[in-house]
Amino acid sequence: MRQAIKGVVLAGGTGSRLFPLTKVTNKHLLPVGHKPMIYYPVEKLIGCGIQEILIVTGTEHMGAVVNLLGSGHEFDCHFTYKVQDQAGGIAQALALAENFASGCPVCVILGDNIFEESIAPQCESYLAQDGGARVLLKRVPDPQRYGVAEVSGSRIVSIVEKPAAPKSDLAVTGIYFYDADVFSIIRTLRPSGRGELEITDVNNAYIARETLTWGELPGWWTDAGTFESMAHANQLVAETGTRA
Ligand code: DAU
Repeated sequence: MRQAIKGVVLAGGTGSRLFPLTKVTNKHLLPVGHKPMIYYPVEKLIGCGIQEILIVTGTEHMGAVVNLLGSGHEFDCHFTYKVQDQAGGIAQALALAENFASGCPVCVILGDNIFEESIAPQCESYLAQDGGARVLLKRVPDPQRYGVAEVSGSRIVSIVEKPAAPKSDLAVTGIYFYDADVFSIIRTLRPSGRGELEITDVNNAYIARETLTWGELPGWWTDAGTFESMAHANQLVAETGTRA
């Protein structure tokens, strides 16, 4: 029988790189193509057959996020909401999913990640492995903007967050699969130099346990967290659209 997997969309953070667009609203409610940004990760989770989806966002705009998404009825899924009081990092936001996950594995998508192809095959690959975690990598021309993976065949050797001198052009996308151990791993983390609990530290903990696998994400992928990348996302969506 197919193992139960739940979905998490992380839509907190300050959106400071899109100021003043984010002065009165949440970054993930801004338009990309004909839809609010957050629709894209939600639709990708639903495309994996996931029906239980947790949305994590900050205090300021939770009302608007709930107004937009509602119960999930319109999407044929069920939404749960959690508030992240302060933007203390992606791993801190994910920690809020522990009760929601209640022992199940989770597929986590960052709310500003927009990409072309379905991740259903990657989800199946993850569910076929024996627990642990899986990240999806993408070759990019500007790896210093992202978490960057050094790989050796099917093994990831290390991931470095925004390295000045990247060891490869393989960016770690904001699409992650974790087993329930992720929550005890997050409890061991200390804030990074930028004062955040880093998802890269979580992934490196799985590397240390030798339980991190990776796949290459097909099709195009971008974040939409800066003016430049948001314009790029709009262009890619207009040109080819996305498949759930
Ligand atoms: O897009 C992929 C990249 O995302 C990865 O390659 C990096 O390893 C990862 O750290 C992340 O980098 P960014 O610097 O782009 O992350 P950013 O702070 O822009 O946050 C991305 C999303 O995560 C944001 O749209 C909402 C969510 N988030 C972020 C923070 C800091 C939260 O939900 N809460 C937070 O506190």
